[in-house]
Amino acid sequence: MRADSAEPVRLKDYRVPDYLIDKVELNVKLHPTAARVASRLFLRPNPQVLRPNPQGRPGAALVLDGDGLNALSVALDGVELDLATASLTPDQLTLANPPQRDFTLEIETELNPSANSRLMGLYRSGSAYCTQCEPEGFRRITYFLDRPDVLSVYTVRVEAERAQAPLLLSNGNLVERGEMDGGRHYAIWRDPFPKPCYLFALVGGDLGSVHDEFITKSGRRVQLGIHVEHGKEPQAAYAMDALKRAMAWDETAFSREYDLDVFNIVAVSDFNMGAMENKGLNIFNDKYVLASPATATDADYAHIEAVIAHEYFHNWTGNRITCRDWFQLCLKEGLTVFRDHEFSSDMRSRAVHRISDVRALRAAQFAEDAGPLAHSVRPEAYYEINNFYTATIYEKGAEVIRMLKVLIGDEAFATGMDLYFRRYDGTAATVEDFISCFAEASSRDLAAFFRWYRQSGTPLVEAEGAYDPEARTFTLEFRQSSKPTPGQGVKEPFVIPIALGLIGRDGDLPLKTGGENGASEAELARGVFELAEERRKITFHDIPARPVPSILRGFSAPVRLDYPASEADLIALISRDGDSFNRWQAAQTYASRLLMRSVAEIDGGRNPTQDAGFVDALGTVLHDSADPAFTAQMIALPSEADIARDIGKDVDPDAIHAARDALRRAIGRGLAEALLSVYARLAENGPYSPDAEAAGRRALRNAALDLYCAGDPFEGARLATRQFETPDTMTNEFAALSTLAQTPGEARETALETFYRRHQTEPLVIDKWFALQAAIPEPDTLDRIKRLMGHSAFSLNNPNRVRSLIGAFAATNQTQFNAADGSGYEFVASLVLDLDEKNPQVAARLLAAFKSWRSLETGRRRRAEAALRRAKARENLSADVKDIVDRSLA
Ligand code: BES
Ligand code: ZN
Repeated sequence: MRADSAEPVRLKDYRVPDYLIDKVELNVKLHPTAARVASRLFLRPNPQVLRPNPQGRPGAALVLDGDGLNALSVALDGVELDLATASLTPDQLTLANPPQRDFTLEIETELNPSANSRLMGLYRSGSAYCTQCEPEGFRRITYFLDRPDVLSVYTVRVEAERAQAPLLLSNGNLVERGEMDGGRHYAIWRDPFPKPCYLFALVGGDLGSVHDEFITKSGRRVQLGIHVEHGKEPQAAYAMDALKRAMAWDETAFSREYDLDVFNIVAVSDFNMGAMENKGLNIFNDKYVLASPATATDADYAHIEAVIAHEYFHNWTGNRITCRDWFQLCLKEGLTVFRDHEFSSDMRSRAVHRISDVRALRAAQFAEDAGPLAHSVRPEAYYEINNFYTATIYEKGAEVIRMLKVLIGDEAFATGMDLYFRRYDGTAATVEDFISCFAEASSRDLAAFFRWYRQSGTPLVEAEGAYDPEARTFTLEFRQSSKPTPGQGVKEPFVIPIALGLIGRDGDLPLKTGGENGASEAELARGVFELAEERRKITFHDIPARPVPSILRGFSAPVRLDYPASEADLIALISRDGDSFNRWQAAQTYASRLLMRSVAEIDGGRNPTQDAGFVDALGTVLHDSADPAFTAQMIALPSEADIARDIGKDVDPDAIHAARDALRRAIGRGLAEALLSVYARLAENGPYSPDAEAAGRRALRNAALDLYCAGDPFEGARLATRQFETPDTMTNEFAALSTLAQTPGEARETALETFYRRHQTEPLVIDKWFALQAAIPEPDTLDRIKRLMGHSAFSLNNPNRVRSLIGAFAATNQTQFNAADGSGYEFVASLVLDLDEKNPQVAARLLAAFKSWRSLETGRRRRAEAALRRAKARENLSADVKDIVDRSLA
């Protein structure tokens, strides 16, 4: 366990390491309860550190990190140290006066992988052994300089009982394998690329394997392997296909080739996160590997494709070029998310993908930015690095890179990327290093742009338009402002790229300026205008009539936009905007306005007024059948959490739920016929394909069913039951079940039982079954969850189960998690405290569900605060949970 450090780690305190470890030799003997790890480290003083150092001592002490380790022996240059007198604790190994020349250190530790419930370091998932080292798990295996700027070449010998672990894997290429006496065997792996220890991995187990080959553009033959639970091999086919597509895509889109002779992916059932990019040996949560039409939805397929690509892309952005320190986390994560978004956009519909990325960004990152856990994309201090794998680092980190591309243009962006790969290959870099490549490539000063990395919070852009019929000009005035966030009172203006068009009768008008309030040629040519100060006015000329402005096209910056568009403007945008993102945004804005008005009415004791204009507009959208996936997005209302964010303060989740329900009912009734005809028209024809087109048809058809059911629960349930009883794919089966789950009664309970019986042997499908029940917006859901916790399929030891039942409740069930009596908060807080003893990382992530507590109405706010305070009062909280509690209450 880590020391309870009262002081945060600060970026400004970064120092290069006093010692380097050029080479590591590991010999790991696997055993369920007493695994032995012998390491030989080849160390030397870091020549970058001035000697004698400022303190005048001949050489700094060598302090190796450990975390709960049990050392059996330590030898310096072959001479054993006396452990009784050595400076050795479970969490640290210190040599006060190490040699000031090359030297070796040999350390032997003993581990109990079966008792490792944190799933960090060496642990067991089922009968297999695996490791997770990012960010600070390697120190749970052996003493080391556990920091990302110490790069070493690893040779790893793994030994195990052959019957227990026929498969022995580590990073890099296989050098040798052989049999031993007593039924044991070994394999030796060597990774020629220097890497930080967080990228180390090792797997031993009895798994089923799928093999394939990829030939890189320069002719390297790469052996691909995906290793899964026996019997699940066919479910790895899609992941393999996605891997090959990702490898090919990186060669064309970023000129990046794979660099080893093998690439292995291992899927395990017990994993804290989604997946991990260990060099040449990615380890995955099996949820992001396994898929078959009968067990995985279209959304699951899309996630698998994205996660496989993400981890593969890290081979360059993260592994070949790694991070100098953990403050630079966005350097690898934001950039790799940007890359996987680009990949998925090229594999699927770019427009539809952009909409779902922005939905996800707003749901997770805007919420984070608006609450007590807000932090900048490149934070300056942390207590627990595990808590910084956040939507801000990932999603906003990706948005910042996307903005950079929009600002400097595709060509300069590509030049900057090439420069980055050339200049920093083999190093541990910083965000400054990365941005300097684009400054050079574009000949621009990016100092002001860099504020996106330093300042937290979501800027608000207010825009107003004025048409002058005499002068035939249209003037847009923009103003940006940013609210204070934790630790950041006042902010400097952000550099905000605003993509825009002015829509006239026949589409986009040519953009011209001149004289006062002008724009640059480059801005006019690209339709992207920079708001770099607090205010900017732009006057467009030769505008024949009042245009409809389409602002922030493609969501060109991660900001909140406030423009007083009329309802007629919104309808024009919905039907005619050439930018499909803004067509969708206009529908969302319209719905959001209606819903906010209804919430106010409900809170005032009135019935919500309905709006025929909006329902009609959706009706028109439904008739446009060009792109079903896009239409499905168009008719999807903002979520309850979206509406809560738009309201911003004194949130009443029950009123939001009622308002949204009423609007769904109105749409279902008003468009019943159109919805039914969409449902009939898009019936499955032909064999299953997970491709985006076929998935889009299913998405629209199931969205139509769901809305129809909102308007006519009886007839809707009949249709949904029919669909549920003749399941063709998990997508359609689960969509039907979700629709049925919204109406209380016997039909629902029967369907839930049937679904369980059908799928009880597939844990990943049972996760969906848990999650669906946890999301039911009814008062007895909490009792249902408590009952399900006693179900034989549930276990607090498995993160996927915890996330599907408890995580889904806290994250998606707005009315019940936020129940007015505080029962939801008390339940989740208690569970977090129980879980903290087993797995602090997963516990802390669950607790982050309280991130919006301050925006609730008084009663709920007080109850949420009480639950957090109760957690804070618990003794022996993990560093992970303590950090979230403290910041949430600060
Ligand atoms: N490097 C991370 C995995 C990780 C995260 C390890 C936090 C340890 C702590 C990996 O590349 C990653 O980002 N995984 C994501 C999925 C990805 C598609 C965004 C995850 O695990 O959620
Ligand atoms: Zn990642």
